[in-house]
Amino acid sequence: MAEAGFRSRVRDTDVAVTFRDLILLPGWTEVEPSQVDISTQATKSHRINVPFISSPMDTVTESEMAVAIARLGGLGILHRNCTVEEEVEMARKVKRAEALVIKDVITIASAETVKYAMDLMQKHNISGLPVVEAEKLVGIVTGRDVRFADPSLLTKDVMTKKVVTAPSDTKIEEAKELLHKHRVEKLPLVDKEGRLKGLITIKDILQRGRFPNAARDEQGQLLCGAAVSPFDLKRAKKLSEIVDVLVIDVSHFHNANVFSATRKIIEEVDVDVVVGSIGTYKAAEDALTKLEGVAGFRVGIGSGSICTTMESTKAGSPTAYATAQVADVVKTYGAKTPIIADGGIRGPGDAAVALSLGASCVMIGNLFARCREAPGTLIAIGGRYYKQYRGMGSPSAMAKRFSLDRYAMPSKGIPEGVEGWVPFKGETSVVIQEMSAGLQASMGYAGARTIPDLWDKAHLASITESGSEEARPHDVLLPSESPERV
Ligand code: XMP
Repeated sequence: MAEAGFRSRVRDTDVAVTFRDLILLPGWTEVEPSQVDISTQATKSHRINVPFISSPMDTVTESEMAVAIARLGGLGILHRNCTVEEEVEMARKVKRAEALVIKDVITIASAETVKYAMDLMQKHNISGLPVVEAEKLVGIVTGRDVRFADPSLLTKDVMTKKVVTAPSDTKIEEAKELLHKHRVEKLPLVDKEGRLKGLITIKDILQRGRFPNAARDEQGQLLCGAAVSPFDLKRAKKLSEIVDVLVIDVSHFHNANVFSATRKIIEEVDVDVVVGSIGTYKAAEDALTKLEGVAGFRVGIGSGSICTTMESTKAGSPTAYATAQVADVVKTYGAKTPIIADGGIRGPGDAAVALSLGASCVMIGNLFARCREAPGTLIAIGGRYYKQYRGMGSPSAMAKRFSLDRYAMPSKGIPEGVEGWVPFKGETSVVIQEMSAGLQASMGYAGARTIPDLWDKAHLASITESGSEEARPHDVLLPSESPERV
């Protein structure tokens, strides 16, 4: 660049296209939208059933959203704008929400009071506790045993001592039979010495039937990811014992210090590590060649609906442009590293474009922040409901100490995000349903049966500003501008 002179910096610029500049050209198709399979790789070792991942933001993903989205087939990435203990607790909640065999069983000692047992059940929203002494199962105490009992009694005074148990390797079908035969709701699994090894509950068996499309780990628990700073090895190690995916959460990954800190994390943890945010070919190439064991790329800088990075710094890489860059690196090196296109997705069409450019899935903040399961506050403005949504680099989010290293005020001196409201949408299932149906329709137009098929078959075209205008409803009086179209 320098030899070619400064004029070439103007003359030879790349066009950093955005989702708004591109459309998907309809192609020859032999597939109906309902036949389109949108399951995909979220990371190298984890598959999800819909290609949607919720952003690690404190108005988007805490345990409730992570549970909801995993049950619907996607993946939630817990935010890190909290203490390590809080993030660990969120992750535990997701993992405990459902499991065929609960390994991390909450137990009680027989000398604890009934009051303590009641508090424990309420805190974890469970209806019973195995009673354990020196690792051995000595009884079980359920809501029914304690409901009207004197709270100062001891657990051993109210517990059921004759517990129906099964060996640790019991299959679900056998467990179902035992639960039915003995008319009990919980089946503790024990080894030959009577030590508690797990728990199977009716509730979990029923849940599994209710969410057949859920994204699960090998134990049948919901898949879960968590964001960590590259400089917080302690947090990464703790979370890696619980979650399936760690996301290195920095706004600019192509940075020497970030690379060395991430290398250490990848070496020390035993789960898939996604790195980002990545914006250029060179950043992805360096990440692929200089770091061993990257399990996914989070791609796009500055396109998020709450971002002001590009506005204030002029630095950034729109998600559509960045995805194509990174996808070429993956292709050139024959790597199987999935790309998560992150930021600026306003609907299924944008997701279809991101996937056409080589992404495996998309990460979304805005559309999920609108849902009941997102943590932001719900407020009414002029008779309509809205939810709070803020950038993790917004002044108020930065005021919480853990966002300081992502968009560090002391070093940068400016906020890189805003805080506002998005229209309330209702349940997350509505967003997933609309996004899935829309994406299947787009892929049907492109003639693609699966996401890898779309990588091969998609043809995109650029659209002019007047074309974008024509693409929206025009020359017609609409009843009222819907808040959905913000
Ligand atoms: P959407 O468009 O879904 O984008 O709202 C969500 C993504 O935006 C990124 N993010 C930020 N980017 N300043 C930024 O420049 C911020 O304060 C900020 N907070 C979130 C992040 O990648 C997220 O997934």
